[in-house]
Amino acid sequence: MRILGVSGSLRAASFNSALLRAAADLAPDGVTVEPYGLHDLPLFNADVEADGDPPAVTAWKDAIRAADGILFACPEYNAGITGVLKNAIDWASRGDPAPLTGQVACIVGASPGMTGSARAQDQLRLILRRTLTHVAPIGEILVFQAHTKIEDGQLKDERTTALLGSHFQRFVDEVRERRGRARA
Ligand code: FNR
Repeated sequence: MRILGVSGSLRAASFNSALLRAAADLAPDGVTVEPYGLHDLPLFNADVEADGDPPAVTAWKDAIRAADGILFACPEYNAGITGVLKNAIDWASRGDPAPLTGQVACIVGASPGMTGSARAQDQLRLILRRTLTHVAPIGEILVFQAHTKIEDGQLKDERTTALLGSHFQRFVDEVRERRGRARA
């Protein structure tokens, strides 16, 4: 099973990208988390789209189509998702069928504040509902005070690691069930 790991932060020392690395380490046998960087995506522009997707957009859409599921690590900027992530979703919401349509997704998030990106995660759920992406109904991972739990890009907090591991396992189970149902 191939899970695409998508961080909404471009920051080298991103707490959210660190969560994706931790999830990759916790992945059950036979499951890989492949990080996908959003650095090269241009800003969405319908005029550009009308001339044909730029190569970076085609690569992004192909990566979504090739994946069995998407693990979003969702930072919070001003009580919402980052522009980087919204832009990437906007590109992937286009096409017939759009790459996000019918995909299975999981959301995690971290912030140095006390709410652990809760508001951004709620907003992301709403956006993904609009794109007909199935967000696994498996509860939330809100890594609050992330600077006390993630050091040098590594998740160090044992409780958070255990929660992330069981969350990820539930996501894998959900992907298996949905994919199995689609094949049946
Ligand atoms: C933030 N940050 C932030 N945090 C939060 O919990 N709620 C918020 O509304 C905001 N707003 C916000 C706006 C802007 C413009 C910036 C740059 C930052 C702090 C943010 O959570 C912090 O920078 C995280 O470290 C960002 O995630 P990464 O880059 O570590 O993954």
